[in-house]
Amino acid sequence: WWRSVEPAAKDPILGVTEAFLADPTPTKVNVGVGAYRDDNGKPVVLECVREAERRIAGNKNMEYLPMGGSLKMIEETVKLAYGEDSDLIKDKRIAAVQALSGTGACRLFADFQKRFCPDSQVYIPVPTWSNHHNIWRDAHVPQRTYHYYHPESRGLDFSALMDDIKNAPNGSLFLLHACAHNPTGVDPTEEQWREISYQFKVKGHLAFFDMAYQGFASGDTERDAKSIRIFLEDGHLIGCAQSYAKNMGLYGQRVGCLSVVCEDEKQAIAVKSQLQQLARPMYSNPPVHGALIVSTILDDPDLKKLWLKEVKGMADRIIGMRTALRENLEKLGSPLSWEHITKQIGMFCFSGMTPEQVDRLTSEFHIYLTRNGRISMAGITTGNVGYLANAIHEVTKS
Ligand code: LMR
Repeated sequence: WWRSVEPAAKDPILGVTEAFLADPTPTKVNVGVGAYRDDNGKPVVLECVREAERRIAGNKNMEYLPMGGSLKMIEETVKLAYGEDSDLIKDKRIAAVQALSGTGACRLFADFQKRFCPDSQVYIPVPTWSNHHNIWRDAHVPQRTYHYYHPESRGLDFSALMDDIKNAPNGSLFLLHACAHNPTGVDPTEEQWREISYQFKVKGHLAFFDMAYQGFASGDTERDAKSIRIFLEDGHLIGCAQSYAKNMGLYGQRVGCLSVVCEDEKQAIAVKSQLQQLARPMYSNPPVHGALIVSTILDDPDLKKLWLKEVKGMADRIIGMRTALRENLEKLGSPLSWEHITKQIGMFCFSGMTPEQVDRLTSEFHIYLTRNGRISMAGITTGNVGYLANAIHEVTKS
């Protein structure tokens, strides 16, 4: 049966983790996958999560969740994206289901798109998180791209982005990163979001927001939802994928949410039922533990406050590492400008290094990162920043 099966290509992000783990060198550094580390390079379990675990330990049953997941978790999660006082919530216009983190939310949405708008396409930014391409490919939705990053300025190519929005056929579907764009660390300004939203209105486009890093851009979850709020103010019907992998450190728990704004409650009921029906043959219903942790935290004002403080703490440590990496490179006398390290935001720095330079970092210095030159700032510590800067300087100086 399986004679024709060839090994699959390595995943450009998770394959880096595999290579890192296989390297016995003690000084190795992993700045590949976007996973937060403390200043000792260790994975972090947030204190609010530990406390939630203590509270739920031993006193919950293990029954199936409903097909759409934990209602409490969904209720709290939707508030984070749409705002505590959102009229859409009051009017029950949001169809939302628990999803297997951000990836699962995007995939469920892509399958929904294919089922109900079989001739539609998705516009994806260049570049984007590599898995976005896999997700919409496997859902059999044709992909188009739109301009986003401007390599020369290491910033946003706003005019090309606007041109692509204008030139796309009316009623196109665009995937947008709500904040802390992965991999570039470059977001539109508030003013630019307003222009984007306005142009979406003119063209009748639909925005699907992937919000995997809420809290990581500014340290403030409310501020990081600004792009979405602008679209809502303009009356768009949006879709949104949310994840607790990064901002609650629940990576392996696979807990997130997919929401779709509908015209009225009746439509929301229909959409939710269809999302559930898509989930049923794939995984039946989502896992319970991560959802319990999230709802325990968000339902308790003190735990929620602690969470928000811890999110800010993670974002601030990353900002500190941006400054440290840039200063180290400048002190080494690098002839290149490294201003973008501190200008970009979120978990990643899109360094501008070529795949060949990245290969040298890995083979000569045992530093692991994706070949597009993306550095996960969360993997940098006061202990390794000097070593990393020196290695980057060595491979980029000539
Ligand atoms: C990343 O971009 O590194 C993360 O989103 C992890 C992943 O699943 O790729």
